Amino acid sequence: MRSLIFFVIGIFIGAACTAYGVNALNRRSAYSDGVMTVMGHQMKSLGQNLKQNHCTPSDLTTQLQTLRLVANDIEPAFASMQGDAQFDRYASDLRAAADSALAVPLTSCALASAAVDKVDKACDSCHRDYNQ
Ligand code: HEC
Repeated sequence: MRSLIFFVIGIFIGAACTAYGVNALNRRSAYSDGVMTVMGHQMKSLGQNLKQNHCTPSDLTTQLQTLRLVANDIEPAFASMQGDAQFDRYASDLRAAADSALAVPLTSCALASAAVDKVDKACDSCHRDYNQ
Protein backbone atom coordinates (compact mmCIF):
# COMPACT_ATOMS: atom_id res chain seq x y z
CA MET A 1 0.00 0.00 0.00
CA ARG A 2 2.73 2.40 1.02
CA SER A 3 4.73 1.85 -2.12
CA LEU A 4 1.59 2.42 -4.17
CA ILE A 5 1.11 5.82 -2.48
CA PHE A 6 4.71 6.77 -3.25
CA PHE A 7 4.22 5.59 -6.82
CA VAL A 8 1.16 7.83 -7.25
CA ILE A 9 2.95 10.80 -5.65
CA GLY A 10 5.86 10.19 -8.01
CA ILE A 11 3.58 10.24 -11.04
CA PHE A 12 2.06 13.55 -9.91
CA ILE A 13 5.42 15.19 -9.30
CA GLY A 14 6.64 13.95 -12.67
CA ALA A 15 3.59 15.35 -14.45
CA ALA A 16 3.89 18.70 -12.66
CA CYS A 17 7.57 19.01 -13.58
CA THR A 18 6.86 18.16 -17.22
CA ALA A 19 4.14 20.82 -17.40
CA TYR A 20 6.49 23.35 -15.82
CA GLY A 21 9.29 22.50 -18.26
CA VAL A 22 7.03 22.64 -21.31
CA ASN A 23 5.73 26.05 -20.19
CA ALA A 24 9.25 27.37 -19.74
CA LEU A 25 10.12 26.18 -23.25
CA ASN A 26 7.01 27.74 -24.76
CA ARG A 27 7.83 31.17 -23.42
CA ARG A 28 10.84 31.20 -25.72
CA SER A 29 10.57 30.79 -29.43
CA ALA A 30 13.00 29.38 -31.96
CA TYR A 31 12.95 32.80 -33.62
CA SER A 32 13.95 34.80 -30.53
CA ASP A 33 16.52 32.18 -29.50
CA GLY A 34 17.92 32.29 -33.03
CA VAL A 35 18.26 36.08 -33.08
CA MET A 36 20.02 36.09 -29.70
CA THR A 37 22.23 33.11 -30.51
CA VAL A 38 23.46 34.67 -33.75
CA MET A 39 24.20 38.00 -32.02
CA GLY A 40 25.93 36.10 -29.21
CA HIS A 41 28.24 34.39 -31.69
CA GLN A 42 29.09 37.68 -33.40
CA MET A 43 29.93 39.30 -30.05
CA LYS A 44 32.10 36.36 -29.07
CA SER A 45 34.00 36.51 -32.32
CA LEU A 46 34.44 40.30 -32.00
CA GLY A 47 35.75 39.89 -28.45
CA GLN A 48 38.23 37.19 -29.45
CA ASN A 49 39.58 39.19 -32.40
CA LEU A 50 39.95 42.35 -30.33
CA LYS A 51 41.76 40.46 -27.59
CA GLN A 52 44.25 39.24 -30.19
CA ASN A 53 44.62 42.74 -31.63
CA HIS A 54 43.04 41.71 -34.91
CA CYS A 55 41.21 44.77 -36.12
CA THR A 56 40.94 44.54 -39.88
CA PRO A 57 37.57 44.82 -41.62
CA SER A 58 37.34 41.04 -41.94
CA ASP A 59 37.98 40.69 -38.18
CA LEU A 60 35.32 43.19 -37.14
CA THR A 61 33.19 44.66 -39.91
CA THR A 62 31.63 41.40 -41.08
CA GLN A 63 30.57 40.47 -37.56
CA LEU A 64 29.21 43.93 -36.81
CA GLN A 65 27.25 43.94 -40.06
CA THR A 66 25.65 40.58 -39.29
CA LEU A 67 24.87 41.68 -35.75
CA ARG A 68 23.38 44.94 -37.00
CA LEU A 69 21.14 43.23 -39.55
CA VAL A 70 19.95 40.55 -37.15
CA ALA A 71 19.21 43.26 -34.57
CA ASN A 72 16.48 44.50 -36.94
CA ASP A 73 14.59 41.34 -36.03
CA ILE A 74 14.60 41.74 -32.23
CA GLU A 75 11.10 43.21 -32.03
CA PRO A 76 9.42 40.78 -34.46
CA ALA A 77 11.21 37.85 -32.78
CA PHE A 78 9.85 38.81 -29.35
CA ALA A 79 6.20 39.17 -30.36
CA SER A 80 5.10 38.96 -26.71
CA MET A 81 6.98 42.23 -26.04
CA GLN A 82 4.92 44.14 -28.57
CA GLY A 83 3.92 47.53 -27.20
CA ASP A 84 6.62 47.52 -24.51
CA ALA A 85 8.26 50.89 -25.22
CA GLN A 86 11.27 50.23 -22.98
CA PHE A 87 12.05 46.96 -24.75
CA ASP A 88 11.86 48.71 -28.14
CA ARG A 89 14.12 51.48 -26.83
CA TYR A 90 16.76 48.95 -25.75
CA ALA A 91 16.57 47.31 -29.17
CA SER A 92 17.06 50.60 -30.99
CA ASP A 93 19.84 51.64 -28.58
CA LEU A 94 21.62 48.44 -29.60
CA ARG A 95 21.19 49.25 -33.29
CA ALA A 96 22.52 52.78 -32.70
CA ALA A 97 25.56 51.38 -30.86
CA ALA A 98 26.20 48.93 -33.71
CA ASP A 99 25.85 51.74 -36.27
CA SER A 100 28.41 53.82 -34.35
CA ALA A 101 30.78 50.87 -34.14
CA LEU A 102 30.49 50.36 -37.90
CA ALA A 103 31.33 54.04 -38.42
CA VAL A 104 34.58 53.85 -36.44
CA PRO A 105 37.58 53.98 -38.78
CA LEU A 106 39.63 50.85 -38.13
CA THR A 107 42.84 52.72 -37.47
CA SER A 108 43.35 51.43 -33.95
CA CYS A 109 42.17 48.44 -31.98
CA ALA A 110 41.55 50.68 -28.96
CA LEU A 111 38.95 52.74 -30.81
CA ALA A 112 37.24 49.63 -32.14
CA SER A 113 37.32 48.05 -28.69
CA ALA A 114 35.64 51.05 -27.09
CA ALA A 115 32.89 50.98 -29.72
CA VAL A 116 32.30 47.23 -29.30
CA ASP A 117 32.15 47.76 -25.52
CA LYS A 118 29.24 50.12 -26.08
CA VAL A 119 27.46 47.45 -28.11
CA ASP A 120 28.06 45.00 -25.27
CA LYS A 121 26.60 47.48 -22.77
CA ALA A 122 23.50 47.82 -24.97
CA CYS A 123 23.05 44.02 -24.80
CA ASP A 124 23.49 44.08 -21.03
CA SER A 125 20.99 46.88 -20.48
CA CYS A 126 18.17 44.90 -22.03
CA HIS A 127 19.23 41.62 -20.39
CA ARG A 128 19.33 43.31 -16.99
CA ASP A 129 15.62 44.15 -17.31
CA TYR A 130 14.22 41.40 -19.52
CA ASN A 131 16.36 38.26 -19.56
CA GLN A 132 15.54 36.62 -16.22
C1 HEC B 1 15.82 44.55 -26.51
C2 HEC B 1 16.28 43.54 -25.62
C3 HEC B 1 17.52 42.75 -25.88
C4 HEC B 1 18.70 43.18 -26.46
C5 HEC B 1 19.07 44.58 -26.94
C6 HEC B 1 19.58 42.04 -26.48
N1 HEC B 1 18.96 40.93 -25.95
FE1 HEC B 1 19.74 39.07 -25.79
N2 HEC B 1 18.07 38.43 -24.86
C7 HEC B 1 16.94 39.19 -24.63
C8 HEC B 1 15.94 38.39 -23.97
C9 HEC B 1 14.54 38.85 -23.57
C10 HEC B 1 16.51 37.11 -23.80
C11 HEC B 1 15.86 35.88 -23.17
C12 HEC B 1 15.34 35.04 -24.29
C13 HEC B 1 14.43 33.98 -23.92
O1 HEC B 1 14.28 33.63 -22.74
O2 HEC B 1 13.85 33.46 -24.89
C14 HEC B 1 17.84 37.17 -24.36
C15 HEC B 1 18.72 36.10 -24.41
C16 HEC B 1 19.97 36.14 -24.97
C17 HEC B 1 20.87 35.00 -25.09
C18 HEC B 1 20.57 33.60 -24.58
C19 HEC B 1 19.80 32.89 -25.66
C20 HEC B 1 19.34 31.53 -25.26
O3 HEC B 1 19.10 30.74 -26.17
O4 HEC B 1 19.19 31.26 -24.07
C21 HEC B 1 22.00 35.44 -25.73
C22 HEC B 1 23.24 34.61 -26.10
C23 HEC B 1 21.81 36.83 -26.02
N3 HEC B 1 20.58 37.22 -25.55
C24 HEC B 1 22.75 37.61 -26.66
C25 HEC B 1 22.59 38.97 -26.90
C26 HEC B 1 23.63 39.83 -27.46
C27 HEC B 1 25.02 39.38 -27.83
C28 HEC B 1 23.08 41.08 -27.54
C29 HEC B 1 23.74 42.32 -28.06
C30 HEC B 1 24.45 42.28 -29.30
C31 HEC B 1 21.71 40.99 -27.04
N4 HEC B 1 21.45 39.70 -26.67
C32 HEC B 1 20.87 42.07 -26.99
C33 HEC B 1 16.76 40.51 -24.96
C34 HEC B 1 17.71 41.33 -25.56
